Amino acid sequence: MAEVIWGLATSHVPSIGAAMDRGKTEDPYWKPLFDGYRPAREWLARHPPDVAVLVYNDHANGIDLDVVPTFALGTAESYRVADEGFGRRPVPDVVGAPELSQHLLESLVDDGFDLTAFQELDVDHGFTVPLSVWTPEPGDAWPCPVVPLLVNVIQYPQPTAARCYALGQALGRAIARFDGAGTVGILGTGGMSHQLAGARAGFINSTFDHMFLDAIQHDPAALTALSREDYIREAGAEGIELIMWLVMRGAMNARIRKVHSTYHVPASNTAAALALFDNRPA
Ligand code: DHB
Ligand code: FE
Repeated sequence: MAEVIWGLATSHVPSIGAAMDRGKTEDPYWKPLFDGYRPAREWLARHPPDVAVLVYNDHANGIDLDVVPTFALGTAESYRVADEGFGRRPVPDVVGAPELSQHLLESLVDDGFDLTAFQELDVDHGFTVPLSVWTPEPGDAWPCPVVPLLVNVIQYPQPTAARCYALGQALGRAIARFDGAGTVGILGTGGMSHQLAGARAGFINSTFDHMFLDAIQHDPAALTALSREDYIREAGAEGIELIMWLVMRGAMNARIRKVHSTYHVPASNTAAALALFDNRPA
């Protein structure tokens, strides 16, 4: 019987990874963002899980746009860091957890979520930047094996927020039935408000972001009531990535404790946030 011990929600802006890779985290532009991560990183270093599930979206780097699964799961032994056009980031490839992947695939299909399985997958900034936010200096390996859970947020029609939350609830039930690990960390990635192209390029909505940061802990049902059009109108065309936080939230308990959160504008074109929740509030 495995237990989800924490949930980490974080933005995945590519330049956050680039700033780390190029030693710029103390530069005036980046220092406030990275200072904001510190308490969460310290707590996470004291609470390493046996395995993690990372909910993210590929940005047409690991998967071609001609095949876009709504929900998919990595089932591989390992995942290479994708080359997004500037060479691969100098971070470790990802060790997978194929037994957990197979268990999740079976459980989720039986629970009504017909996931696509990726037996081979390169992971892009949507995956590696959250790992770097968690673990700035991984050395030769990330802290534990990680299973990728992919959500389509880039091509219409994206799944609804309600469906993402329901997937998270099914994920939580599946993890609870898994015998091969004791503790599990869940990462929900993307967001916050941002729009990269079009007439509203550069759009940020900090009022919406702060509402979302509060509701993801206390009132996720309010967030599942929003349509994909609501997300795009309020958070920007790419801000709809926030629906992936709801997969993480669905896998956690009704009551969770906030360990730390931080919000910073801008990181590149994006409102960047981190929110870390303990699933075992005292
Ligand atoms: C940016 C943000 C993203 O979420 C992304 O996937 C790519 C770029 C940005 O703000 O630059
Ligand atoms: Fe993105």
